[in-house]
Amino acid sequence: MARVPLIAGNWKMYRTAADGAALARDLCRRLGSRGGVEVAVFPPFPALAAVGAALAGSAIALGAQDMHWEKEGAFTGAVSAGMLLDVGCRFVILGHSERRQHFGESDGTVQRKVRAALAAGLTPIVCVGETLGERDAGQPLAVVSRQVQAALEGVTGGDLPRLILAYEPVWAIGTGRTATPAQAQEVHAALRRLLGEHGGGSATRILYGGSVKPENALALLGQPDIDGALVGGASLVAEQFAQIVEAVPVA
Ligand code: 13P
Repeated sequence: MARVPLIAGNWKMYRTAADGAALARDLCRRLGSRGGVEVAVFPPFPALAAVGAALAGSAIALGAQDMHWEKEGAFTGAVSAGMLLDVGCRFVILGHSERRQHFGESDGTVQRKVRAALAAGLTPIVCVGETLGERDAGQPLAVVSRQVQAALEGVTGGDLPRLILAYEPVWAIGTGRTATPAQAQEVHAALRRLLGEHGGGSATRILYGGSVKPENALALLGQPDIDGALVGGASLVAEQFAQIVEAVPVA
């Protein structure tokens, strides 16, 4: 089954509302209506509305970097799926390794968020990935399998096409050190098999993330089980992000 590639820009804790809107307008100018590939950007919460307004009428979609699993409540600092939909989000990144590392995100909280996002009609991008220590110990597949199994608990096979996985080896994030296309493909193929055991898989997109740049995008995106990229640093530079989008091999 054909999977439409997705290039997602995770802006992390960068860009104010005004700066984010300017970056979004720049991306709209550069990317126009390029077919055969989906593009989405993930600004920080306070910039979502302004970036959404700047993207209006374009083919670039809006997403958020995290959410809470409850609809509302006394959860200081948190936002719900409904609030993200209200401000125009279609996607939400869940379980990013920076949330796991710095904010106590666990497999259990990711699981609750995935279910809440799907129930609300948001498309979750569920991030998994091993640390350098775990890779050196020969365990990358065991780690990502555990993370995916947990995230998918309670998710039916029928929901899998609405979910996106992102393989982001922690040692490749922000380090300039990318997984080789073969290393990434090996993990993506294992994730695809795991999705198959869960009753789906062929329609689920699996993105690669970790120091994706214009120079390495083509080789990574050419792998059979790599369906797009989750881009950090390079997504903050319109020219680089546009070059990554243009590197997608369009069928
Ligand atoms: P970098 O592209 O800056 O390595 O970040 C990757 C990432 O964490 C995207 O979510």
